[in-house]
Amino acid sequence: MKILVTGGNGYIGSHTVIQLINAGYEIVIVDNLCNSKIEALSRVENIVNTKIKFHKVDLLNKEKLNQIFEDEKVDAVIHFAGLKAVGESVEIPLHYYNNNVVGTLNLLEVMKNNKVSKLVFSSSATVYGDPHTVPILENFPLSATNPYGRSKLMIEEILRDLYKSDNNWDIAILRYFNPVGAHESGKIGEDPNGIPNNLMPFITQVAVGKRESLAVFGNDYPTVDGTGVRDYIHVVDLAAGHLKALEKLVKNPGCVEYNLGTGNGYSVLQVIDAFKKVSGKEIAYSIVDRRAGDIAACYADPKFAKEELGWEAKYGIDKMCEDSWRWQSQNPDGYE
Ligand code: NAD
Ligand code: UFG
Repeated sequence: MKILVTGGNGYIGSHTVIQLINAGYEIVIVDNLCNSKIEALSRVENIVNTKIKFHKVDLLNKEKLNQIFEDEKVDAVIHFAGLKAVGESVEIPLHYYNNNVVGTLNLLEVMKNNKVSKLVFSSSATVYGDPHTVPILENFPLSATNPYGRSKLMIEEILRDLYKSDNNWDIAILRYFNPVGAHESGKIGEDPNGIPNNLMPFITQVAVGKRESLAVFGNDYPTVDGTGVRDYIHVVDLAAGHLKALEKLVKNPGCVEYNLGTGNGYSVLQVIDAFKKVSGKEIAYSIVDRRAGDIAACYADPKFAKEELGWEAKYGIDKMCEDSWRWQSQNPDGYE
């Protein structure tokens, strides 16, 4: 089976491509490198010991995208490509809507033209907004609080409408919780531009001496120790979820949403403790005000993915910290 992977050079895409190749899928990557380095591709090729077909193309370039589909004759698409920084999306919303929503519309039209009707889409737990209760089930109400989240929600709605109009489509909407960790080799991992927005890359950069101290955003939430609770999931587990979703699409399930999380919530202070334990590094931190838009607690009920996809996360918080640290300590400046 031949799979076109948009955004396959990024953090989650690169980890997924490794597993796809190891499982015998043929791969074509389409990525414009707006948020990834070509070095990531070389590292993935080194890990799997295979040359990978790569097109440096923007999803906004519909003609080029269509040409790739005509040439490559793929069977399915995994669609990771998108911009993902919440704060930046508030600053430049039009850019986010254009890239994420228009980019996806182009992809869907090109897929339709070329009679490709199987799609795995990267959604996010952000579509649950501020949930009334946790753990979160797939049928919880959906909402968004920022342009990034709204772009994911809009795309989800577009996909559901598309399926309603034509039942030949098979679409797995995967709602990721908080991806962390890295490939066990330490050769690939998350390489954020500038100051990291997310907790784990910030912690690893403090540990490696690139940042002085972590700002913990609030300790007055109604949680175990007052700091925010999230469902961190190892990127290797997350990648495995995409292979299970592909297997499901072959059985014509229609358009279905799945939570990909572990079901376990950890507070910021618990993550710092786990990281200290496995790395032996002290993490300097101070408590500061809450970050606008943050919620107290967010974790998945992952039982639907287990029942329907036969997928569940294998790795715990210690392994997530250990692999994040291996990547950061072996590559203090990421892919540079
Ligand atoms: P990433 O930025 O590392 O990877 C995305 C890749 O898409 C990059 O290589 C980028 O160059 C490419 N890209 C972006 N816009 C493009 C376009 N118009 N044309 C072609 N390529 C384009 O991000 P990631 O963490 O691997 O996330 C992958 C997907 O998962 C994204 O859609 C993201 O919104 C979603 N997601 C991520 C998280 C997270 O915390 N990492 C959480 C939930 C959902
Ligand atoms: N945090 C800090 N200090 C930091 C960074 C984060 O205290 O420097 C805290 C946050 O307040 C939160 C927790 O660590 O309590 C996790 O924060 P992240 O920024 O790592 O993750 P979020 O849950 O806020 O957001 C992430 C992605 C979003 C996605 C969402 C749900 O960044 O894109 O998960 O999937 F929408």
